[in-house]
This record gives sequence, structure tokens and C-alpha cells, in this order.
Amino acid sequence: MDPILSYELLRSFTTPVVAITAERDGKRNGMISDAAARASIVPDVPRLMILVHKFNYTHDMIFETGRFAVHALHRAQLELVERLGFESGRDRDKLADVPHRLGTLGCPILEDCWAWFECRVINVMDTGSSTCFLGDVVELGRGPGKEILTPGYMRANLPEGLREIYLTKLAAAQAWARERSGDVRAVVWRDLERPRPKP
Ligand SMILES: Cc1cc2nc3c(=O)[nH]c(=O)nc-3n(C[C@H](O)[C@H](O)[C@H](O)COP(=O)(O)O)c2cc1C
Repeated sequence: MDPILSYELLRSFTTPVVAITAERDGKRNGMISDAAARASIVPDVPRLMILVHKFNYTHDMIFETGRFAVHALHRAQLELVERLGFESGRDRDKLADVPHRLGTLGCPILEDCWAWFECRVINVMDTGSSTCFLGDVVELGRGPGKEILTPGYMRANLPEGLREIYLTKLAAAQAWARERSGDVRAVVWRDLERPRPKP
């Protein structure tokens, strides 16, 4: 198989660029992803799923708390992509200067975005290198942004220096993920047995 072709073709399945936030024991954090998809067609049972690599700090925060918020970003938020997607919250407080409030579940809800969704994890799937979290949306809303940020727009408009850093980090993440992709485990989400309110 041609790996360059496979990467190029699979890239067409990426989603809008989102900021995923979480909170654990008073610590608030956020990261960037382009792997957040609709997971329900039922209007009154809204669901999202997100794919988060295990090396990210946000991964452990979501796994331990069972909650997260997803923000579809808008085109004028490339600076936020840099702030949340290029460094880890292990090293600094990335949300310190980002205006936000806490949502119903306690996740950081960013003021500026295209739309936001606060979710409770209802199931997970292990991929070896990442976890796919399935979330019930408990609250959602529109932000002030007008045009949603796509990965294509982001790649075409990243400042030159940042593009290099992005590609370097992507290569490192790919190498890390390659090592672990074969180690897929059966994971039973701890709340699976707990009855949930009917929608
Ligand atoms: C455009 C872009 C897309 C990204 N997509 C993903 C993704 O789909 N899944 C993922 O786990 N990390 C993704 N990342 C990487 C994380 O955002 C990055 O590792 C971040 O520093 C994690 O922060 P944390 O350690 O505070 O959680 C992406 C980064 C960028 C810039």
C-alpha cells in the first residue's frame, strides 16, 4: 500500500477543526483536534464522538472525569489553534487568557467559537494509540463565529513558521501512534451499566 496515497485519501475524512476542553480537580485544559464527528441522527438524542491520542494530557482528564466539551472553531481562530494544539497543558495553563465559563458538567466553555457542545462520556473504544469517546451532548449553543474552520482552510492559512512546527509535531505523533496501533484492547466503560435517563 502507498502510505502517501493512504494519508492523502484518509485526510478527506477529517472533521472541522475543534477545541476540546476538560476539567479535573480544578485544573482546566484544552487541545485541538480534527477528529470529532456526529454520532447520532436523532435530534433529541444528540451525540458526538471524538478521537484523542493517549499522549495528550486532555485524554487522561476526559478518561478520568467522563466529560468533555467540543468547540467547532471559526476561521479567525488560528491563534487559538496555536495556543491549544502545539503545547501540552502539562507544561502550562493554556486556558489562562482564553475567556470561558464552566458549563453544566463543569467543562470549560469557550466564549469565542462557531458552536459548542458539552458532553458526558457514555462509551469508549480503544484504538491502541487513542481512545474514541462517545458522548451524550447535555448542552450546546452557537458562538459568535461566522465561518467554520476546516482543516483545509487551516493548512492553507497557517503562518509559515507554524506550518513547519505543525508538520514536525505531526510526524512525531504519527511515529508514536504507529508503535501503539497494534495494541488494541477491549475496554468496558465504567458507567456502561449505570442506567441513564431516557431522552
Ligand atoms: C490542527 C491540529 C489537529 C489535531 N488533531 C488531533 C487529533 O485529532 N487527535 C489528537 O489526539 N490530537 C490532535 N492534535 C494534537 C493536540 O491538539 C496536541 O497534542 C495538544 O498539544 C494536546 O494538548 P494537551 O497535552 O494539553 O492535551 C491536533 C493538533 C492540531 C494543531
